Formats: sequence, C-alpha cells, structure tokens
Amino acid sequence: MRCMIGADKQSVVFLTDCSDLVKMVSSPAEWPAFTPYLEDIQADREEFDSFALVYVPRSQNDRFRFPGGGTMFPRGADAYIDDIARLIPLTDGGIRTAIDTGCGVASFGAYLLKRDIMAVSFAPRDTHEAQVQFALERGVPAIIGIMGSRRLPYPARAFDLAHCSRCLIPWFKNNGLYLTEVDRVLRPGGYWILSGPPINWKQYWRGWERTEEDLKKEQDSIEDVAKSLCWKKVTEKGDLSIWQKPLNHIDCKNLKQNKKSPPICSSDNGDFAWYKDLESCITPLPETSNPDEYAGGALEDWPDRAFAVPPRIIRGTIPDMNAEKFREDNEVWKERIAHYKKIIPELSHGRFRNIMDMNAFLGGFAASMLKYPSWVMNVVPVDAEKQTLGVIYERGLIGTYQDWCEGFSTYPRTYDMIHAGGLFSLYGHRCDLTLILLEMDRILRPEGTDVLRDNVEMLNKVDKIVKGMKWKSQIVDHEKGSSNPEKILVAVKTYWTGQPSNKNNNDNNNNN
Ligand SMILES: C[S@@+](CC[C@H](N)C(=O)[O-])C[C@H]1O[C@@H](n2cnc3c(N)ncnc32)[C@H](O)[C@@H]1O
Repeated sequence: MRCMIGADKQSVVFLTDCSDLVKMVSSPAEWPAFTPYLEDIQADREEFDSFALVYVPRSQNDRFRFPGGGTMFPRGADAYIDDIARLIPLTDGGIRTAIDTGCGVASFGAYLLKRDIMAVSFAPRDTHEAQVQFALERGVPAIIGIMGSRRLPYPARAFDLAHCSRCLIPWFKNNGLYLTEVDRVLRPGGYWILSGPPINWKQYWRGWERTEEDLKKEQDSIEDVAKSLCWKKVTEKGDLSIWQKPLNHIDCKNLKQNKKSPPICSSDNGDFAWYKDLESCITPLPETSNPDEYAGGALEDWPDRAFAVPPRIIRGTIPDMNAEKFREDNEVWKERIAHYKKIIPELSHGRFRNIMDMNAFLGGFAASMLKYPSWVMNVVPVDAEKQTLGVIYERGLIGTYQDWCEGFSTYPRTYDMIHAGGLFSLYGHRCDLTLILLEMDRILRPEGTDVLRDNVEMLNKVDKIVKGMKWKSQIVDHEKGSSNPEKILVAVKTYWTGQPSNKNNNDNNNNN
C-alpha cells in the first residue's frame, strides 16, 4: 500500500486473502490491540482518492494478477486504453504498431495486445530497477532503451502511435530534440499521446508539488514544439493529450520557408539509426504532390497489412527487391514453418512466447508465426546487405537494429526461442562466433530452443561450440531435402548449474 502512495491521488483496490485484515480495517474499534497499525493504515488510505480492501478466498488467490497499475492508470491499463479509444480510432486496424517511451513494466503494451496492437516498450535500467525484465517475464515485448543523445534504434515512419505516460522524458527541453525524434519514428498521420505532468495540471498541480505557473509554462513549451513539428493537436481530455503528425510535408515546407525552427533536414537517411546522434531538424517525409496523400505510401489496415506488399518495396527503396520476390518469400516461409512444426512440435503448442529472429530480412518468419500465441522481435543486423526494418514495420511487425558483435539490449533468459538464418555466414569474418553464441546463450531461457540455418560447414563449426555450452543439438535437413547445402541446427539450452571449481574448494578448505 505504501508503495502505491505517489505524488498522484489515485483510486485503489487492494485484494487480500486475510479476512481478519478486512474486518480490522472496516471496524477498527473492535481491534484495540492493533490500534497503532490501524492508525497507520488510516493515514495511508487518506493518500488515495478512493480506497477499498477486498477479501478474496485463498482458493482463488493462487496467482499474481497484473491489472496494469501504471502511474497514470489508477483504474488499470485496460480502462485507460478504453479512454484513448474514445478519442481516436484505435481498433479499426489503422493502428497496429506502437512505441511506449519510458514504459515501466509495459502494462500499456500488455493491454494493447488484446486490441491487436503491438507495442515496442522501452525503458532504461534506472531507479525503477529491472522493469523491462519484469515485462519480458510477463511475455510482453519490451527492450532496454533510453531517450538520450542518440536516435532510437528504429527506422523512420515505423510507428502508428507513440505514447508516454509520466515517462519523465523532458519533451520541452533542448528545443524539443526528443519530440523531434518521436516525429522521425512516427508514421505520417500517426498519433502522439501524453499523459502525466504537465497534462491536466489544473487538477494535479498540488499533488505534483509544482506551481501552476511552472506546469503551464511546461505545457505551453510542449505545445510550441508540437506546432513547430507541424503536428495538429487532436484533443485534450482529462489526463490525456493527443497530437497527430501530418500525412505529408506539403504545408510544413511552406511554414518552414519563414525560417521557423527546427528546419527540415537537408539530406538525411531517416532510416539509419545505429549510433547516430539526435539532430535538431525534422526528418523529411518522401515527396508527395497531393495534400491528402500519405507520404511514403498508404498502408493496408491490420491484419491484411501483414501480407500486403509493403510501400517501401513498391517504391523500390530496397535494392533488388520487388513485389514478386516479396510474395515468393512469404511462400518460402509457409513451407519452412510447416517443416519446423515437424522438427519442433512444441512450436504450435504455445510453448514459445517470446521469440527473437536474429536476422529477420523481410519478417517472413514472424508473419508466418502470427497464428500462434507468440510475438517475434525482428532483428535486422546493421551489417545486413539489405536494410529491411522499415519493411518489417510496414507489415505491422516489430523489431530493432543490432550489431551482433555487441550485446543485445535485454536481460538474461528473456526469450523462449531464437531463430537465426544465415547469421553466422554474415558475421563469420567480423567477430568471433563463440561470442555471438554466448550472447544467444545469455538471452535464451533454460530449455529454450534455437533454430539456426546456415551452410553445413558453418553449422558444423557452430555445433562444436554449442555442445561446449551444454546445449543439446542436432543438425537436420533443409525443408527441400538432404541435397540442399543449407542445413538446420536445432538446439535446446539445457538447465544446469556449475560445480564449484577446485580452486574455490581449496580456498574454502584453507579458510576453515
Ligand atoms: C514514473 S515511471 C512511468 C512508467 C509507465 N509509463 C507508467 O505509466 O506506469 C517513469 C518511466 O520513465 C522511464 N524513463 C525515465 N527517463 C527516461 C528516458 N530518458 N528515456 C526512456 N525512459 C525514461 C523510467 O525508467 C520509467 O520507466
């Protein structure tokens, strides 16, 4: 209860299987021996707008429930999302990908899932501790990340929705640099939702221990930055404020002719986002001639979007790729998943929830897995010949950039399955395979499964290393049969704990 006392006034309901506690709190006069405790409880309950303590029988109290109690969701994340759905069209298939900046334990993303919206939720490891680990252990997509001095590791125009509930990112500072980054990753017509300070300051300023002037100034600055990005204010209701990015930059360019800052960047690859510093200019949108046209191409509604030819492919922005090759890739993946189901029967039984594809190309693996109760983090290596992460987002799938000679921004044992096709051939000359495999071992939970595709020589090398890591592995044939030079290595990370080394034993003996 104490943990819930924040600066905000909140409505709270606590559940307990201790019936005496409920009786004590409802009729304290009958429990004189507990007077000091009851006085404390009384003082604490006054910190909340409304307070209830409800009895649940022990037989029903056998699991943790996560109603999604974020700092801005006193009625749970579901009710909060319902409020949003009353303000913008959230469930008609037009919004599929979201980014939750400063996500806490990712309750917002968790409750978007049942509306068929996939959020990338990110937060650093700070005073809020291992929040992203908690999210991943709930089976919710999340990644360690921070809005700092560099671009977020996502391409331009990736997300249909960006969200911050009390996420502590100073949107108004540095001439709106962080909001300019949100603008880069937002799709034309995409929404930005802000709740928490300074929104609704007239109601909360006392609880937030800030002055009205200070909060008003902060909100005015955010409104100015949003205007300078050519965003439109959609609405402000209760705790929620919503803006929308324009469909194209036709009007914005006219506005910027008056030298209004930030300018539109002159030359920029908006998709490049690996160790790239933030810039105080607006990432240009692809050219359009009609004010109603979606810059970069309109997207199909979800779920058709997953298999429709993505606009980046239609526009020819991926070298040596076209609609026909895209469709062929989808056929290839149908066949591969059917093969995987034979060699890993658990695949279709819901055993794997958090899945990573380490070299995702067009996201074909993830798209074919949509029918299962899992989600896939599509990773596009920065060294890949074709930079396809933008295509993956256009399909309504999620992912990130990564250099596999470095560690991945996640906690140990957070994925149930890892898929990697052609990764070792891609990295064989750049860094030590053992280091990549050790990173995979770190990410995978015990008894999790790896599916690695590569040529047979490479897989033989990999097999030796994984056996040294005590994985149980087997090399099997390609879906097309044994004459195909590509093979598939299926490995399961075993559960084991190390024995104390002799050195430690000796040290202990000497100490005794
Ligand atoms: C008060 S919590 C709110 C969490 C969640 N949005 C909610 O409503 O429950 C603040 C969150 O912002 C995150 N945060 C703070 N500064 C950040 C930054 N610069 N970039 C990303 N996240 C940040 C914290 O790690 C934490 O997850």
